[in-house]
Amino acid sequence: MIDIHAHILPFVDDGSSSLEESLDMLRSAHESGVTDIICTPHLRNQFNKTPSELKVAFDEFKTAVKNAEIPINVYLGQEIYLGYGYKKLFSEDKIVTLNDTKYVLAEFNYFERRDIAETFYDLTTLGYKPIVAHVERYRYLSLEDIYEIKQVGGLIQVNADSIVGEGKKVHLRLVKKLFKHGLVDFVASDSHAERPFNMKNAYNYIAKKFGIEVAEVVFKLNAQEIING
Ligand SMILES: [Fe+2]
Repeated sequence: MIDIHAHILPFVDDGSSSLEESLDMLRSAHESGVTDIICTPHLRNQFNKTPSELKVAFDEFKTAVKNAEIPINVYLGQEIYLGYGYKKLFSEDKIVTLNDTKYVLAEFNYFERRDIAETFYDLTTLGYKPIVAHVERYRYLSLEDIYEIKQVGGLIQVNADSIVGEGKKVHLRLVKKLFKHGLVDFVASDSHAERPFNMKNAYNYIAKKFGIEVAEVVFKLNAQEIING
């Protein structure tokens, strides 16, 4: 499987506070059947490393992963909080896209209603391919809102944790509804040190409930497109 959302790069956000912790996370990802991970540190509030600082941290991490002989390919990305001033982040090149492609992983305020479709429409006109991170967490989104996000070219990611982990029941209900409507593009771990990789269990759950073809697409094939650029 390919994980497009993981807070595994050490020292850059609330994901991991040491190299050893990050390497342990990678080992557990490997055991969970993950072959490739895009590291997506937060860009939000106090987590505001510049793209060049992240690239330096990532290069060091990549070398450490190689030296530790953990068989996982790592790539750099970012989970970008899109608040009211988000346009400036893009016009001033302050963001990191997923694996240096046009795909961007975006999150929004969970409680205050934001017009995600409109924001994504603006980003697609700039040539980006925006993805909503853990779409199940936005209580104000209706099924129609999610259809609208897809219609403007937005993509949908849900967390493995919401399927089989400690996630809330209300999240699982929404995730199942989204699968029934064929609206999910990616399942990812959104792992932090304290949140285990649930990818294998989530894959098995989705394969059993919606078929292996669906599981292959959302845990692997769509993400492969990002890795391939
Ligand atoms: Fe995240």
